[in-house]
Amino acid sequence: PNPIIHEATVSAPTNIACIKYWGKANSQYNTPINSSLSVSLDQTDLRAVTTASASSSFDRDRLWLNGIEVLDASTSKRFRACVDGVRALATDKVVVDPATGAKCVVVTKDEWSGMHVHIASYNTFPTAAGLASSAAGYAALVAALVRLFGAEESYPGEFTAIARQGSGSACRSLHGGFVAWRAGGKKSDWSDSIAEQVADELHWEEVRAVILVVSDAKKETSSTDGMSDSVATSELLAFRAREVVPKRMNIIEEAIKAKDFESFGKVTMMDSNQFHATCLDTYPPIFYMNDVSRSVVQMIHMYNAWAGEIRAAYTFDAGPNAVLYTLDKHVVELLALVLKYYPAQSEDLVGDYVSNLALAQKA
Ligand code: PMV
Repeated sequence: PNPIIHEATVSAPTNIACIKYWGKANSQYNTPINSSLSVSLDQTDLRAVTTASASSSFDRDRLWLNGIEVLDASTSKRFRACVDGVRALATDKVVVDPATGAKCVVVTKDEWSGMHVHIASYNTFPTAAGLASSAAGYAALVAALVRLFGAEESYPGEFTAIARQGSGSACRSLHGGFVAWRAGGKKSDWSDSIAEQVADELHWEEVRAVILVVSDAKKETSSTDGMSDSVATSELLAFRAREVVPKRMNIIEEAIKAKDFESFGKVTMMDSNQFHATCLDTYPPIFYMNDVSRSVVQMIHMYNAWAGEIRAAYTFDAGPNAVLYTLDKHVVELLALVLKYYPAQSEDLVGDYVSNLALAQKA
């Protein structure tokens, strides 16, 4: 066998939704019952870094997460969908001889399809604690494979549709800035369920995300299990998907375009609250937020009431951790407030973050 190992390394950011995805329309294609919108957190601390390699000397597909091999990876439906999906779009690898300008095909499209892959992925933030680590992970996996195989889309957004099959929210992490995942469903193969950028990372540079890690324990109910229970039992969820989210998608896209933090913050908080209300409306109910999470909600409403405007907005995913969106000019004030309310927990953290603003992720 040819011992050459081809490899590519990329990173992808995590993303935190302002309009939440909750509920699958089709579990085979992993498509949602409603559109969603998120901000990609473009900061080195919250990224997954993935190296994908391929060689005809590899005898099977293998995956390592944070240095530990995941033994059943190659049979996982999600992993297979990403690897097989991107490999099917591989193109010939061509190198140009710098001396003569002659082009030489070093790997043909067909040769790629006969090669197994080895994937090594790292992330630096709590896995499965509701901080969207799977989003960054699957987005980095797809992006690394795209680079490795020189893959080309057969329709716009196809790579995001592949990442979606790894983890729904991963499709949004293939773009920076503000990203919408259009629910789709008009096409029978769901090729219209794709993510697209609403505004890039330079459009509204003042936006910051402050992450309050309430707990880094693994969440009790996985998003997949939670969603299927909610779809099966929550009438509120069906109403939300049909009546509420389409309006909120318009509101938030307008707010982002106009850089209107008042409107952006309000709809973000309302949508987080409604998502957790659908969890409570699920039977039996699901609780992702805890008492500390709820105290953060109260703190932010008191802060905004004191300021007479919305200066910070909270949002919670499938776990107790808070993500606070704010503007650059309010970060220090907001962190001072966090330090006052949670002195024992945040003394070291906030001191560190005020000095290097590591917690104030530049969104
Ligand atoms: O992509 P998943 O299956 O991990 O689901 C993500 C669900 C939420 O994080 C709660 C909401 C969202 O839109 O990211």
